[in-house]
Amino acid sequence: MTETQAIDYDGLIPNNVGLNRDQRLRRALETWYPAYIDWWKTAGPAVHQDRPVYLRTAVGVDPEGWARFGYVKMPDYRWGILLAPAVDGRKVGFGAHRGEPAWQEVPGEHRAMLRRLLVIQGDTEPASVEQQRHLGATAPSLYDLRNLFQVNVEEGRHLWAMVYLLQKYFGRDGREEADDLLRRRSGDTDQPRMLGAFNEATPDWLSFFFFTFFTDRDGKMQLSALAQSGFDPLSRTCRFMLTEEAHHMFVGDSGIQRVVQRTCAAMRAAGIDDPTDVDRVRALGVIDLPTIQRKLNLHFSLTLDLFGAEISTNAANAYTAGLKGRYREDRLEDDHELRDATYKVLRWRDGAAVTEAVPALSALNMRLRDDYVDECGGGIARWNRDIAAAGYAFTLRLPHVGFNRRIGEFAGAALAPDGTKGDPASFLPTPDDGAYIASLMRPETEPGRYAGWIAPPRVGIDGKPGDFEYVRLAEA
Ligand SMILES: [Fe+2]
Ligand SMILES: [Fe+2]
Repeated sequence: MTETQAIDYDGLIPNNVGLNRDQRLRRALETWYPAYIDWWKTAGPAVHQDRPVYLRTAVGVDPEGWARFGYVKMPDYRWGILLAPAVDGRKVGFGAHRGEPAWQEVPGEHRAMLRRLLVIQGDTEPASVEQQRHLGATAPSLYDLRNLFQVNVEEGRHLWAMVYLLQKYFGRDGREEADDLLRRRSGDTDQPRMLGAFNEATPDWLSFFFFTFFTDRDGKMQLSALAQSGFDPLSRTCRFMLTEEAHHMFVGDSGIQRVVQRTCAAMRAAGIDDPTDVDRVRALGVIDLPTIQRKLNLHFSLTLDLFGAEISTNAANAYTAGLKGRYREDRLEDDHELRDATYKVLRWRDGAAVTEAVPALSALNMRLRDDYVDECGGGIARWNRDIAAAGYAFTLRLPHVGFNRRIGEFAGAALAPDGTKGDPASFLPTPDDGAYIASLMRPETEPGRYAGWIAPPRVGIDGKPGDFEYVRLAEA
């Protein structure tokens, strides 16, 4: 057991970084804290901030048993600064500094690049909370409401994680960046969030589930690459963040699965054999599979843009500097410098998608995206098994990676989801789809009850029974 595994809950800011021994940092964080709470109350969940929610809070940083569950009102949540335990003798694992001891301080030559990486990651965390701000008013159950709020408070904590690194290691610049992270707003015309997908609306719960399935998984990929960092405090921060991220993706994966299950069960019960008979399906008050596919098309394509251009010098520089590795870098077998290696990139050339081998260093975004797309396939296969088990010949598919893209090789290429020429807009959710889904978004607040468009989960959170009151709405 190292001292880092215990969390000090005595002060204003729970932490396992010895905040009591660092007065300068503690003052910076305590100064930032009221602005954070103000942001949380004005830009965070629009409803139920004053209700007890059954949330998990970290009590340690071991991979096992780090969480304790209990009722807490969200503004009283114990956000804190939690790093995974240090690994003795850890070395920089890749790039030009490979084999040197991992850095405990910011390497001066890479300072600007590192700060940029922290700010971009940090900006996504509060953005998602802002995007999900209004969903609490229409949750399909108390179980789902609780999961939304769990994701929200943890994204808030992820913001804390990046703010800690900025304030501890970047002095005055870092404090200014930390303030700016609370100043930008998702979708704001003057001060938007930094990345496109984080300025999109999350108008309904189907979008929320796709967001947590696709966009939180992008977060996982980015955090995994940063967890490899030679800057050890970043690595340790990201390793703990990843333990929280798993639940976010579960919420999305199981959420879509429950929607699909409910739709199939309702169609079966009504004797509907054709899942594309949208009018009949919608008359049942469930979400038809073609609409689910269009939402999937939208969220997948938005999220792919988050990986940046397929060919990127920034990515190459961050790798060579030892700041951002590949997915599971430490499990890959090669020279970890990629001086002579090549990687196959899908490019858009004269109106056709072609595969080209390019220097692997410049293709790191593409590689991370490939790893991501592979993982996405797993969830979709599970949903399709449920559709098949209900006896329907309908398959949800990931669209072509060039579909509906704004960034990279395929920006502006007019492709259909199957990669042939086509108008992307005709495969995206329509205003009519949006209005129909919106008509279903009515809150279900009775413990153990679920809105008609979604199946109950297989098991409760923390082993709780089906009628557990995850959010005490009657209690202030
Ligand atoms: Fe996050
Ligand atoms: Fe997340």
